[in-house]
Amino acid sequence: MTGKKRVVSGMRTTGKLHLGHHHGVLTNWLKLQDDYDCYFFAADWHALTSEYQDPAIVKESTRDIFIDWLSVGIDPEKATLFIQSEIKEHAELHLLLSMITPLPWLLRNPTYKDSQSDEGQGGDDATYGFLGYPVLQAADIIIYKANLVPIGVDQLPHVELTREITRRFNHLYGDTFPVPEPILTELSKVTGLDGRKMSKSYNNAILLSDDETELKKKVSSMVTDVQRARRKDPGDPEKCNLFPLHPLYSNKAEIDEICAACPKAEIGCVDCKKILLKNLIAGLAPVHEKQRYYRDNDKLLDEIIANGNAQARAITRETMLEVRKAVKLG
Ligand code: TRP
Ligand code: SF4
Repeated sequence: MTGKKRVVSGMRTTGKLHLGHHHGVLTNWLKLQDDYDCYFFAADWHALTSEYQDPAIVKESTRDIFIDWLSVGIDPEKATLFIQSEIKEHAELHLLLSMITPLPWLLRNPTYKDSQSDEGQGGDDATYGFLGYPVLQAADIIIYKANLVPIGVDQLPHVELTREITRRFNHLYGDTFPVPEPILTELSKVTGLDGRKMSKSYNNAILLSDDETELKKKVSSMVTDVQRARRKDPGDPEKCNLFPLHPLYSNKAEIDEICAACPKAEIGCVDCKKILLKNLIAGLAPVHEKQRYYRDNDKLLDEIIANGNAQARAITRETMLEVRKAVKLG
């Protein structure tokens, strides 16, 4: 591990993973695990900030998400995979960081501010835990003395806050943590069935675990090029909601053919969808096979999680000894 920069990232456990995760975050994690000392975790405490009224989904998704990670090739031999709530030191550091985090920093955090506006959920999100979300995220990151944090652009304000909190800690108690840098994950071009961002909350996602029947239903319901109302209208793959999936699943000949035929109305969306469906089913088959393997091997999954948790704990224990000394509690 020596010499490698350390990477930390988490994923909230609020449901099963979809193709947006697969071709955005996970593709990126797959590259990072080869070159860096990676810590990837299931952020179940963060999930509770939104799911506290119906928390069963959090635990259920944690296992599903681990299975999905492993099934796309995230490798426990290369990266440390663990569950946030199993590493209690995150909570202790969160508490200590909350002492030094000025309230205005949190009140102006866009995630919090927007949720309190008219369009936001208002009351439901007005909890102490939700306001402190970025403080917990800061603890998650710096407890591993991370150098790099891969995130989507929506998470940038949170990592910026992590950096500010880290500087403040170092200033008050002496240099303890590196100030981590964000790495922006390129946005996935894959959008949802309805053309909006693929998201569980919009109910427009193709899940990594969808079976053939489900895939068929979803692909046929997918919005394509909205300008193309009739079969004889020319289409434009550039403006088509479905097309970005082709480069991920179809071969070059098929893609060339679609790009040539669609603008001349020589192929209809129904046939184009058929090609995609066939390739999607074939492309996801190895993932589905691994999902079945891990689902049928509860013990193996338990072992992978327990090992990752133990590796993570070994580091956080050390860090907290140092932190307690720094704040004169140790
Ligand atoms: N807030 C992140 C998200 O919603 C998840 C997260 C929690 C995270 N802790 C983190 C990401 C630490 C990176 C590093 O996507
Ligand atoms: Fe999109 Fe294919 Fe229809 Fe063209 S033919 S608009 S690429 S679904």
